[in-house]
Amino acid sequence: MPIQLFVPSFRVDECLAEIRICLEKGWTGLGYKTVEFESAWKQYTGLPHAHFLSSNTVGLHLALEILKQRDGWESGDEVITTPLTFVSTNHAILHAGLTPVFSDVDEYLCLDPASVLRRITPRTRAVIFVGMGGNVGRYPEIVRICRDKGLKLVLDAAHMAGTRHQGVHVGGDADVAVFSFQAVKNLPTADSGMICFPDAAGDAIARKLSWLGINKDTYARTISQEAYKWMYDVEYVGYKYHGNSIMAAIGLVQLRYLEQDNNYRRQIAEWYRAALANSARIRLVPKHDDCQSSTHLFQIRVANRDQLILALNRHEVYPGVHYRDNTEYRMYASAHGSCPNAHAASAEILSLPLHMRLTRQDVKAVSELLIRYAE
Ligand SMILES: Cc1ncc(COP(=O)(O)O)c(C=O)c1O
Repeated sequence: MPIQLFVPSFRVDECLAEIRICLEKGWTGLGYKTVEFESAWKQYTGLPHAHFLSSNTVGLHLALEILKQRDGWESGDEVITTPLTFVSTNHAILHAGLTPVFSDVDEYLCLDPASVLRRITPRTRAVIFVGMGGNVGRYPEIVRICRDKGLKLVLDAAHMAGTRHQGVHVGGDADVAVFSFQAVKNLPTADSGMICFPDAAGDAIARKLSWLGINKDTYARTISQEAYKWMYDVEYVGYKYHGNSIMAAIGLVQLRYLEQDNNYRRQIAEWYRAALANSARIRLVPKHDDCQSSTHLFQIRVANRDQLILALNRHEVYPGVHYRDNTEYRMYASAHGSCPNAHAASAEILSLPLHMRLTRQDVKAVSELLIRYAE
């Protein structure tokens, strides 16, 4: 049996039952289950506000657009970001008419605070922090830098559903946090995400902007007793970014299992750690004692990464790479060479298979292959 990097586990009967409720009611769009899922997410994370979206990608764009409008940033103002991420993070900066400034990463593969400090200019307005694989890295230091320097902080929490730092779910100390519930994330739907502002005003603007700038959603109007249900106003040129009730129905079920699933992910990570601890050629991305990571990824570093992948593939083991240094892409090539740590990591990192169907035997088999082929 091939061993894949990711295999999402859906509680099929429960998901179908939740979806059936939507279909029978005749409500599959914005409102209804999206509101239920937002409440469940707030309860699970302890975050005060949450708005359900069609993806994390649109959420990052929305986040920057809202901060830009609220704080009166100019087009071309700078946002410090990481080159080691999925391109969504950096495209969002360009979508908002801002300039990405790449900062280097540390041994956690997250933004290095010392490098961030060196990238700050009079035009810097914000920092986007990516919690790589669910880790917090040196996030608390980044929070402090942003507060000291008056910069906004966006947390790209695509990997962080269920990550706790010092016992508290992440997201509350950012100016906005954006989660992903894409098909292979810890809380898989098909495509969806959640934008979480700490303040009611940010949340309210996100709701309007994600629904074309309309100031009352269709579901709220449908259940309203008012005679003027059709009477809404349009306050902004918004986007069609909101989530729908079918995705929320799946999300509601998957959320019930997130804690259990993340515990199993952490167990798998411990098995890998124990099996690989004594290999001189395999370096593990370090783990934090005060961070209960969602463990979206288990990443190692090896010198012969590309050959190792081919050797594993010959044994039907299919790991992944998260990510290629974005400055190697043509789109971001003007920053090429500016982040040597990210560049070096990009050639060495490997994400090992990690999902609910993986057994202890699978972990043992993958680890033995790694030890055999790593150089
Ligand atoms: C770090 C990071 N940011 C953003 C995204 C985008 O998430 P979504 O697919 O929900 O738009 C992803 C997902 O692949 C990601 O891994």
